[in-house]
Amino acid sequence: MKRFIEKQLSEILGRLYGSGQIEVMPPVEVLKPESSFGDYSTNIALRLSKVLKTSPQVVAQSFINQLKLLDTHGDFLDISEAGGFINFKLSKTQLLKNMAAISDQGELYGSSLVGEDKKILVEYFQPNVAKPLHLGHISNAVVGDAIFRILKSQGYQTESDTHLGDWGTQFGLLLLAYKKYGDFSIIEKNPIEELNSLYVKINLEIELDPDIREQGKQEFVKLEQGDGENKKLWEQFREWSWKEYEIIYTELGIRRADHDWPESFYEDKMPAVVEELKQKGFLVESQGAQIVPLDDYKLGTAVVVKSDTGTTYLLRDLATFIYRQQQGFEKQLYVIDVRQQHQLAQTFKILELMGYINLPEEAVHIAYGFLKLPEGVMSSRKGTIVHADEFIRSVQDRALEIINEKNPDLKDKELVSKQVASGAIKYFQLSHNLKSDIIFDPQKVVTFEGNTGPYLQYTHARIHGILRKAGNLSINFKEESIKLEELETAVLRKLYTFPEILAEVIHDATPNLLCNYLFELAQSFNSFYQAVPVLAEPDENLKALRLHLVTATAQVLSNGLILLGIEAPEEM
Ligand code: ARG
Repeated sequence: MKRFIEKQLSEILGRLYGSGQIEVMPPVEVLKPESSFGDYSTNIALRLSKVLKTSPQVVAQSFINQLKLLDTHGDFLDISEAGGFINFKLSKTQLLKNMAAISDQGELYGSSLVGEDKKILVEYFQPNVAKPLHLGHISNAVVGDAIFRILKSQGYQTESDTHLGDWGTQFGLLLLAYKKYGDFSIIEKNPIEELNSLYVKINLEIELDPDIREQGKQEFVKLEQGDGENKKLWEQFREWSWKEYEIIYTELGIRRADHDWPESFYEDKMPAVVEELKQKGFLVESQGAQIVPLDDYKLGTAVVVKSDTGTTYLLRDLATFIYRQQQGFEKQLYVIDVRQQHQLAQTFKILELMGYINLPEEAVHIAYGFLKLPEGVMSSRKGTIVHADEFIRSVQDRALEIINEKNPDLKDKELVSKQVASGAIKYFQLSHNLKSDIIFDPQKVVTFEGNTGPYLQYTHARIHGILRKAGNLSINFKEESIKLEELETAVLRKLYTFPEILAEVIHDATPNLLCNYLFELAQSFNSFYQAVPVLAEPDENLKALRLHLVTATAQVLSNGLILLGIEAPEEM
């Protein structure tokens, strides 16, 4: 509807005043359901009146006259002027038509075709082989997964890639350490932890004896050359690592990546990129290294090949982008923490200079801040790093505790507590501004009250409770005789804007807007349900309408949660 109004406004503008008078877009604002002005508002008349030097009221009125003529379906109850703004109030018919559309479209309500089947890639959950998972990986996976699902729902042909960190000299060091001290039967029992301590151990040795680094590098060179033993060990490391990563899929319900193009995959694709950079005249030699100076863009110096001829992370990223583009991806989104902003900006700039992309549309860094725990929570393992598995399990325990308190007879308690735990983590991460650091306090986050994932899941489950009680009572009603209560209208208006919110969310990569929306919808529903009888309503027609409203709300809550990657159990 927002777009529809915008289109009409610009047509009327052209007709009445000639186009090019004023930059009109984006003129239409979606109002909150509690606003008494209506559902949509525009300041077009105010802006235009400044240019035309007439009163905004006069301009508004001429727009309103035209808009009313165009409203042949009775979409609007009212279009009127207040303080120079033009406000639109949706009609009962329009709101109810939308409610029926929710039932018809079911889980497709909210999806659209705006993506025009454009093929795009989202890169997320890029752990590093033989390194433990920590909170950062959880944030990353959660953000990436939600962005992925939302884009897909908007008609993009979306695929994901996990850019596994499985290459580099550190693997030479690890191979060396393994050969010196590794014991398969011990490592096998707890691979990542053990491999990680081997890695720490060898690095300590290097501090005492720098020659060891050289030996490690040699092991990596052997790996690069395809040495049988090293290759086998390295593959074993990868296999062990993927086992450890499983928890992200099984306990958090993150989608498995469509592509597994790890860092090692680009090994043989880098020389061509260096060659091309040379050909195009971008490479400069500096102290033995090959660099691209980016001072003109305030991006410093990008090192492509190190002075010891070693390849760089940046070079690998150039090769990565180019390869994926060759696979037909028109746009690539990188979910990577904020610390890598500079390095990624350099990568994108070089790709632009090379003629591969248009910025900022075709390569996007989705940066996120850090998830932290309050002081003193969970420190059973030494060290400052909080391990992902420990964290997830502790949140699950907390969720189970709460369910045992609230609903001890619930069947599938284990399963539901996992869903609640993952809902709590995901919603917490997604409901904040992505770029800010956030502190996850299990006491505040794993609760059925307030702006939390479990609150939304709980609201959804309660609604299903109502529907279960209703059994197969009819939800068909006659519109003519219905006069909507204010609290009903508020829910209907909220339901109406769901597709528009999603459009906004993909435009700015801001899943927190979707979280806000769902929270407001749940609140609006709860106020309605507290004050207005549904099953106890004696008038059958009204009862059917209200049940329909309840059904539609459950649908939209569920659709929204699913887009965030959050499961919505029907009983909690
Ligand atoms: N594995 C890397 C890390 O943990 C992140 C990879 C990011 N992706 C990329 N294309 N650079 O730091």
